Amino acid sequence: MCGIVGYIGSKEVVSVLIDGLKHLEYRGYDSAGIAVLHNNTIEIRRSKGKLNELAEMVLAQPVPGNIGLGHTRWATHGRPSEENAHPHEDCKGEIVVVHNGIVENYLSLKDELQARGHVFVSETDTEVFAHLIEEEFTDDLYAAVQRALKKVKGTYALGVMSLKAPGQIIAARFDSPLIVGLGKDEYFIASDVPAILNHTRDVIFLDNGEIAVLKQDGVKITNLDGEEKEKAVVRITWNAAQAEKAGYRHFMLKEIFEQPIAIEDTIRTRLGEDNIHLEEMELSEQQLNEIEKVVIIACGTSWHAGLVGKFIIEELARIPVEVDIASEFRYRSPIISGKTLTLAISQSGETADTMAGIRQAKASGSKIISICNVLGSSIPRESDGTIYTHAGPEIGVASTKAFTAQLTALYLLAIYLGRKRGAIGAERTKELINELRRLPHLAGNILKEDANLKKLAHEFSYYKDFLYLGRGINYPIALEGALKLKEISYIHAEGYPAGEMKHGPIALIDEDMPVVTIAVHSKTYDKMLGNIEEVKARDGIVIALATEGDTEVAKKADHVIYIPHAMEIFSPILTIIPLQLLAYYIADKKGCDVDQPRNLAKSVTVE
Ligand code: AGP
Repeated sequence: MCGIVGYIGSKEVVSVLIDGLKHLEYRGYDSAGIAVLHNNTIEIRRSKGKLNELAEMVLAQPVPGNIGLGHTRWATHGRPSEENAHPHEDCKGEIVVVHNGIVENYLSLKDELQARGHVFVSETDTEVFAHLIEEEFTDDLYAAVQRALKKVKGTYALGVMSLKAPGQIIAARFDSPLIVGLGKDEYFIASDVPAILNHTRDVIFLDNGEIAVLKQDGVKITNLDGEEKEKAVVRITWNAAQAEKAGYRHFMLKEIFEQPIAIEDTIRTRLGEDNIHLEEMELSEQQLNEIEKVVIIACGTSWHAGLVGKFIIEELARIPVEVDIASEFRYRSPIISGKTLTLAISQSGETADTMAGIRQAKASGSKIISICNVLGSSIPRESDGTIYTHAGPEIGVASTKAFTAQLTALYLLAIYLGRKRGAIGAERTKELINELRRLPHLAGNILKEDANLKKLAHEFSYYKDFLYLGRGINYPIALEGALKLKEISYIHAEGYPAGEMKHGPIALIDEDMPVVTIAVHSKTYDKMLGNIEEVKARDGIVIALATEGDTEVAKKADHVIYIPHAMEIFSPILTIIPLQLLAYYIADKKGCDVDQPRNLAKSVTVE
């Protein structure tokens, strides 16, 4: 997904822009560019490929100035290339724009503009903004942007500068995140917090339909009709180091090791003696008791969290749960009513399919609760309540700590609902809370096995296909373990319910197909032992997860990874950790770009 940085102040703007874009690299991109307004000229530098190439270009052709815009592009319209890289200009090179989002009516707008003589030089939808603003400009850039935006359908986070309006940046947002950073006599725009944390922690989250005017003397924010808006300033507690690698080889490894604190921070302040504090849910007792069904919608790893959530909520709150991939939910005819609680799970809070799903559910009268990791992101802003995970910024494209934090939030929610609705009593609640409190420590113990997992991973880094098997509440973990491997190592991996082996996958088994089995103590433990024997009988190789102290699994499996004992319902938050490490070390051994895997973006804000 694209990244935007803008700056106006007294610093050399190029260093602020490049540094900011570097902190947005995780969003996935294929080209980058900057524009600097200085001495009545606009200098543009753009390059295809990684940010280092742009930085080298700027080093070779320095650009002085104190006001500018920067952009990293993840191609949606128009192939990755220098001419499609942002910033884009109007016909006279007097207006430049950077944009994140999709202009849905750009083809008709482009036709109209070209018919009126505008010359386009790129294949992008973004370029229409530059020509629209050019056409609307009389003597006020803000007014020109205001009028231009009213012609646009689609999503945008937009930064605009012009020779005809020196000393100002105009920013606007609709369904694509954009923040305003407030420094000391300096102001910023950015797609996400890490881009400006080295300069300020005080940010304003723009809402849909808002326009910000940044000048040397301050910031003004209005709606599309020009009415000034009073906006809350949020103080970001993340420090710059948190968004850095802290000495780890990759962000992903750092984030795997941050899971104990991510779980801890997510339960912090929410555990009572025999109840859960989730007032942020903002649902009345009556609304809670009226819930007849929970529908969970999410994508990717968050969908896997939702699948675990079904087991947890049905067991603890005794409410029926449906789980849907958001892009599927949108196109079926779901049975949703005012007595349905729709739960959207999203790390970024910006996933377009999930956003569309909650809008559809809301239109059917459902209350919307979201579980999200990014403060002030789009999905929470359209939810009736949000349970924020406190995993901190997750920079690696492959989601790890956000996933275990999502599971933590689901445990909190299920216990909260179960307690409120009388499905569980005080004693059971105390047991569950005590087990929740143990999880960070248990997760930390698993991470101590890091060296063994690295060794095992290196042994298996040459295989071309993997099968992951799990049952019950660990079936979604088989799916998640397989996703982790395939998305960062590009090795084909499938997750499967182990009971399905005899219905097909067993035909795949041979000495070239490692099978990862989740065989921790559970209601289906004996069945999992049987599945391991099925695989071994066909010369398959078995890597098994087993509960500490287990002696049976080791008699059958080729390799065993031990997991500390915990209540079965909490086992997924532990069993996923060695699978994350296995995937990480295999991918790293293969020399893959672990933090920014090919073709993937951290937040999929396009459909
Ligand atoms: C997970 O490792 C992937 N990066 C991807 O599947 C991700 O979970 C999915 O795109 C959903 O993102 P969200 O949680 O931000 O909505």
